[in-house]
Amino acid sequence: MEEKVGLGIELKNTIDYARFLDEQDPLRSFRDKFYIPFVNGKESIYFTGNSLGLQPKTAQDYVLNEMENWANYGVEGHHHGRNPWIEYHEMFPALLSKIVGAKEEELVVMNSLSVNLHLLMTSFYRPTKERFRIICEAKAFPSDQYAFASQVKLHGYQPGDAIIEVAPRDGEFNIRTEDILSVIHQYKDSVALVLFGGINYYNGQVFDMPAITKAAHEAGASCGFDLAHAAGNIHLQLHDWGVDFACWCSYKYMNSGPGGVAGAFIHERHIANESIPRLAGWWGHDKENRFKMDKEFVPIPTAEGWQLSNTNIISMAAHKAALDIFEEAGMDKLINKSKALTDYLFFILDEINKSSSAKLIEIITPRTENEHGCQVSMLMLKDGKKIFDELKKQSVICDWREPNVIRVAPVPLYNRFEDIFRFGEILRSFLASR
Ligand SMILES: Cc1ncc(COP(=O)(O)O)c(C=O)c1O
Repeated sequence: MEEKVGLGIELKNTIDYARFLDEQDPLRSFRDKFYIPFVNGKESIYFTGNSLGLQPKTAQDYVLNEMENWANYGVEGHHHGRNPWIEYHEMFPALLSKIVGAKEEELVVMNSLSVNLHLLMTSFYRPTKERFRIICEAKAFPSDQYAFASQVKLHGYQPGDAIIEVAPRDGEFNIRTEDILSVIHQYKDSVALVLFGGINYYNGQVFDMPAITKAAHEAGASCGFDLAHAAGNIHLQLHDWGVDFACWCSYKYMNSGPGGVAGAFIHERHIANESIPRLAGWWGHDKENRFKMDKEFVPIPTAEGWQLSNTNIISMAAHKAALDIFEEAGMDKLINKSKALTDYLFFILDEINKSSSAKLIEIITPRTENEHGCQVSMLMLKDGKKIFDELKKQSVICDWREPNVIRVAPVPLYNRFEDIFRFGEILRSFLASR
């Protein structure tokens, strides 16, 4: 079976060709594992896996199973059932290690993303009078901006002084790696933490995480990443890159349900270091002695030592259902298909631009293979909101980001090349009819 569907061959803008690519797709059967939403009585073209991934059909069974355990066993569910709750979270590192490129002991599933970002900043943003700055991308996701500013203030510094944002150059849409590295170098005497998204939520740009990590360390700073848009989407090697910490949500590419339980990575070299400050809770305490209820906190010497509360089983059950599908599909195959899907999407959008007298869509996502994941952000040069509303009427679910960007994300687990072709036809016919 051909595994690299559609890559390196001449693309065609026809339904037959799109269907041909779907037939070649080794992952084509995975679409049936998900519920595809309907809009206006029609199966949607769902391009919003970058915001909320679709529900695996198995998720209800996994969740129901835990509801039944709760009904049947009550508190004893912590020790009974197929996956006793007391160790339920321990199933995840093995599954996630292949998705984010980490050792199992570096991983923990807990809380939600912004909470984990704060917990990890508490440990890894330790400003001093000389070294207090955070270097980040301009226009990071707002929750991250609020987290950075509030952490800075918590330590008694001024965000305006302490937060250094790296922005695209005038007239450009993406931040150049050389500019990120040079800003890190410029602030090498005062930077405490370099903290970027793995992928920028707005333009879909993948940042060069190994280069940023290396530069941060050379400057004497810690380095972390918010992988909300990267986990389950692109190739990651957090351990080998030497990243200090990272966190992500599970509800986007990992399809684990709205507000679902999130994940965190702490590099091996830090996990047993008890001198790193942290906010502690009983679930991070030494497992052997947890129920002795002693006063002194003894952290588990793995990423689990950052846990606070006992496990959110219902959310974790949905997460497990979703990650079992990732395990079956395999990250390499998913990434190959993702590249083929986005190549086809770039091609279809170029065709639309070519067929019009004036350019209608500016693609602001980098096209270079390793600089984008599933998401393609389209800067609409005219009537953007109207076009977005029209797409919705035609059962296309994508998303709108002010002031004029439509984000579309064909996701390899459940999107087809045919979806991209049909999306292109809807867009083209609406643009032609104006
Ligand atoms: C990049 C990024 N960071 C943080 C968040 C906030 O996530 P949560 O509400 O799960 O804390 C989001 C949500 O979409 C995001 O995209």
